[in-house]
Amino acid sequence: MHLDSWAKKAKDHGYRSRAVFKLEEILRKIKFENTDGKVLDIGSSPGGWSQYIIRNYPKKEVYAIDVLDMKSIDGVFFVKEDIHNIDEIETLYKNKGSFELVISDIAPNLTGINAVDIENVYELNILTISIAKRYLQKTNGCFIMKTFQNNMLKILRENMAIYFDMVQTYKPAASKKQSGEIYLYGVK
Ligand SMILES: C[S@@+](CC[C@H](N)C(=O)[O-])C[C@H]1O[C@@H](n2cnc3c(N)ncnc32)[C@H](O)[C@@H]1O
Repeated sequence: MHLDSWAKKAKDHGYRSRAVFKLEEILRKIKFENTDGKVLDIGSSPGGWSQYIIRNYPKKEVYAIDVLDMKSIDGVFFVKEDIHNIDEIETLYKNKGSFELVISDIAPNLTGINAVDIENVYELNILTISIAKRYLQKTNGCFIMKTFQNNMLKILRENMAIYFDMVQTYKPAASKKQSGEIYLYGVK
């Protein structure tokens, strides 16, 4: 499908971002089921992924965090905060260790200086992996994270492999080929 068609499809379905179709593909791969469970959406604004989960998996409880504001979504608990401070959010902290799925579409603002951007992405990804490890339930937990194709990808994957039984790298069809964006997912 042409890239603009993804944006049109998102609009037609009332989704806030075309990113929902990337998530959809990965959820299909991990065979995510609509059973009771909690989902943590990290870097959630404008809210496409949270919308997608609550609409297609109505049994889930969705918690979302972003440093930017997010227009409210019925059934989604949103907190405006930097993920560096996630443990300070009482509602999230008290649910630590009980999430079935952690999804992260976080991307730092790019500076245009390649080495700095790679370092910033890496720092945010390492933090996100450590949050996933602490907030996921101990068994049957899944984690999906956006990252970028660069020389740190292998290290991130190895880091995830220490904790998750299965780790995969995946480039969804809805992801712009030239963007370098890629997703890592892990299942425990
Ligand atoms: C690509 S967008 C997410 C799109 C979202 N998945 C959707 O479908 O609508 C990435 C988000 O990560 C957020 N972000 C970046 N750094 C962050 C941080 N340190 N803490 C919290 N959110 C952050 C940005 O504000 C931005 O809204």
